[in-house]
Amino acid sequence: MHVLGIETSCDETSVAIYSADRGLLAHEIYSQAKSHAAYGGVVPELASRDHVRKLLPMIDAALSEADLERPDAIAYTAGPGLIGALLVGGAVARGLALGWDIPALPVHHMEAHLLAPLLEDEAPQFPFVALLVSGGHSMLVDVQDLGRYEVLGETRDDAAGEAFDKVAKLLGLGYPGGPAIARAAEQGRAGTYEFPRPMMNRPGFEFSFSGLKTAVLVQVRELEKAGDLDDQQVADIARAFEDAVVDTLCGKSLRALEETGRQRLVVAGGVGANRKLRETLKDAVSRSGARVYYPRPAFCTDNAAMVAYAGSLRLEAGERAPDSGVGARARWPLESLVPAVAG
Ligand code: KG4
Ligand code: ZN
Repeated sequence: MHVLGIETSCDETSVAIYSADRGLLAHEIYSQAKSHAAYGGVVPELASRDHVRKLLPMIDAALSEADLERPDAIAYTAGPGLIGALLVGGAVARGLALGWDIPALPVHHMEAHLLAPLLEDEAPQFPFVALLVSGGHSMLVDVQDLGRYEVLGETRDDAAGEAFDKVAKLLGLGYPGGPAIARAAEQGRAGTYEFPRPMMNRPGFEFSFSGLKTAVLVQVRELEKAGDLDDQQVADIARAFEDAVVDTLCGKSLRALEETGRQRLVVAGGVGANRKLRETLKDAVSRSGARVYYPRPAFCTDNAAMVAYAGSLRLEAGERAPDSGVGARARWPLESLVPAVAG
């Protein structure tokens, strides 16, 4: 079965074709970063317009790349995300499905993120703990099986990616902030500045990144009293901030492995592309005797390969797609999902 995946939840327009027998046959990602850069963040209306402009030509291109006239099913991100952006992908999916007389399955964006590492050759088996860190979410999830998810802890305020974006803006590093901070941090000297490790001293698995962002702001304001920050100061602050986020994510992930007794940690979502986080977690997790799995960076940030894959797993497991309606949802709790059920 060839599944066409459509991802339009935020500022990436992406389409992919996945087959359970033949793997990933086509994958296209159009990043809208340039459209939003001038505003320092995603402008929802601009995102919807770009999806409208890009989606159909990208689907055409993916079908030719896979040498297919039409897929056997469509899987589209129905939430959580920007409602206008989701509606574009959902309406296109539903329209094509009607025309082609094939099913269109709504997919949960965060489920797709946490299943993304399974696309790789060295895929983890269920069960595992997933650290989901993106622009909109930061959570630790106990993944028992497809559709059986227990959220162990979430952020109380900003998501990790959001903190990267806000701190980058504060430092004048532009948007998207994650890669910009990571680049600057490479030139930074460890320990020049110290920022708090939020929630590390508290039990449990909750995160909080808003206070960390404020600590960076206070430090920047203090330094600015003596004039504009130079490149080395920016790099040192970026380094101290990245170290604080990485330490916190790493500490809570190890705690989650210990308390659940799981042997596998999966890291997913845009912040999972961060090299420092990947290296630090790999060392720390292997020292604890467990193993960490990452999707390649292109499968960490928003992409349709993970959506086509999640849809394919559910359809192959017998899930029946709804006959009508787009079902877009700006909010959609991960824990409300259930295993694939024939309707
Ligand atoms: O998963 P994603 O592409 O979109 C959402 O679903 O939110 O995640 C985007 C987030 C952004 O906040 C971006 O700054 C962050 O992931 N990000 C990174 C890196 N690459 C992307 N954060 C830290 N280091 C990176 N290399
Ligand atoms: Zn995402």
